[in-house]
Amino acid sequence: MSWIPTCSSCHADRDLRKATVVESPSVRTLWRARPGLPSARPHQTPNPFRRRDPFSPSGADAVEPPFDMDVCVKKTAHRAAFRAETRSAEAGDLHLTVPRRGRDLGTRMAQSGIDQPHVERTFESVSSESVWRCPKDGSALFARQGHLICRGAHQFPVVNGIPRFVPARTYADHFGEQWKRYRRTQLDSYTGFPISRDRLHRCIGDRLWKTLAGRDVLECGCGAGRFTEVLLDEGARVTSIDLSEAVDANAENFPPGLLHRVAQADILALPFAAQQFDIVACIGVIQHTPSPEQTIEHLYRQVRPGGWLIIDHYTYEVGWYTKTAPLFRPVLKRLPTSVSIRFTERLVDLMLPLHKRVAGSHFRSVVFRLSPVLTHYRTHPALNDDLQRQWALLDTHDSLTDYFKHFRTRGQVRRVLERLGLEEIWCEYGGNGVEARGRRPANAARCD
Ligand SMILES: C[S@@+](CC[C@H](N)C(=O)[O-])C[C@H]1O[C@@H](n2cnc3c(N)ncnc32)[C@H](O)[C@@H]1O
Ligand SMILES: [Zn+2]
Repeated sequence: MSWIPTCSSCHADRDLRKATVVESPSVRTLWRARPGLPSARPHQTPNPFRRRDPFSPSGADAVEPPFDMDVCVKKTAHRAAFRAETRSAEAGDLHLTVPRRGRDLGTRMAQSGIDQPHVERTFESVSSESVWRCPKDGSALFARQGHLICRGAHQFPVVNGIPRFVPARTYADHFGEQWKRYRRTQLDSYTGFPISRDRLHRCIGDRLWKTLAGRDVLECGCGAGRFTEVLLDEGARVTSIDLSEAVDANAENFPPGLLHRVAQADILALPFAAQQFDIVACIGVIQHTPSPEQTIEHLYRQVRPGGWLIIDHYTYEVGWYTKTAPLFRPVLKRLPTSVSIRFTERLVDLMLPLHKRVAGSHFRSVVFRLSPVLTHYRTHPALNDDLQRQWALLDTHDSLTDYFKHFRTRGQVRRVLERLGLEEIWCEYGGNGVEARGRRPANAARCD
């Protein structure tokens, strides 16, 4: 039996030697192994997901395909073989590859004397197929018995279809439970108001916002997905990661598919090759990591030349120092989440009526500054009583149990971005503190 590639766009059993072969970095080769066909060359098809980047001169991405082979087309062939033969396997859903099968195909093609078509290494084409990498050594990962395993024998479980690159316990465990419990609370589709959308739009900026469709976006610290929803709505291809089990809530809200994939991973040890995302967005997260500066550095590593980093950070406010929350936080963050959630519920039910009563009066600032409960009567007055309570439960729990809570001024955030060499930096006070974005120079040297 011979194995011949056929065009995945036309799916026709015809001799593809007659097909046009465009050997340019801006096209994508996508072909499948089919039995019993004559020798053929692959028909190259435009990448359905990637639009030409209006901000990048080259648009070139350098994502290594996951094969350790000498000729690039063989890598495509192997990838194709995997698709054709194991499509329904869980690994297929994760866009993973199985090297042994691929090698079988390459060997069979070589042995049967089939033309192995030459195609330039089209890294841009491969980027939309990007696969998880071992966060410890950067090597390719292969699926085996419910795990992802690298050649260095590091292995990572896949649970509920989501690869887990983190230890069993982390400082973000409270977040995980919290987002699973309040999975839908802050979704725009749930509240009926574009609160998350407006916030993300402001951070991303109007110019970039208009080009979101088709972009590869890495969303770090995704939580339950209030921003995932907006990004997917805008047509971006979203990779959502979070250190905690919030990824389960995220995947339940927005099931992984062609435009969305999810992994439990740490920003400081991401399972990707460097510089492969058009946009790296990290909103509401950096202040909760051990070192904000180090976190920003790691996020920036994932931005491709010409791509954008979008972040925000808590800033110093009088309210943070007058609140009684610091009295509870050191204890609550060390207790089991079941306890901290119950405690928060009691606190909210006790204080919420008072917050509501003073919302329109002069006493408002006194109550808001002292109370450990966070409410949104002032910031989002349109939310009804039920939503006010749900948001208060969520945000109060969030602010009383976060393990790390850092503050930075606008100048401090800007200086980090400048030191890293970002261009077109925008950095303003707004939202939850400071909001900022910047761009990796289009001609920046690649580093891995
Ligand atoms: C306050 S929540 C914000 C979630 C989401 N961005 C939102 O605004 O709804 C912070 C999230 O960051 C995640 N996180 C904290 N440290 C992280 C890290 N080192 N890597 C990845 N995620 C992290 C937490 O697990 C948590 O889900
Ligand atoms: Zn490894």
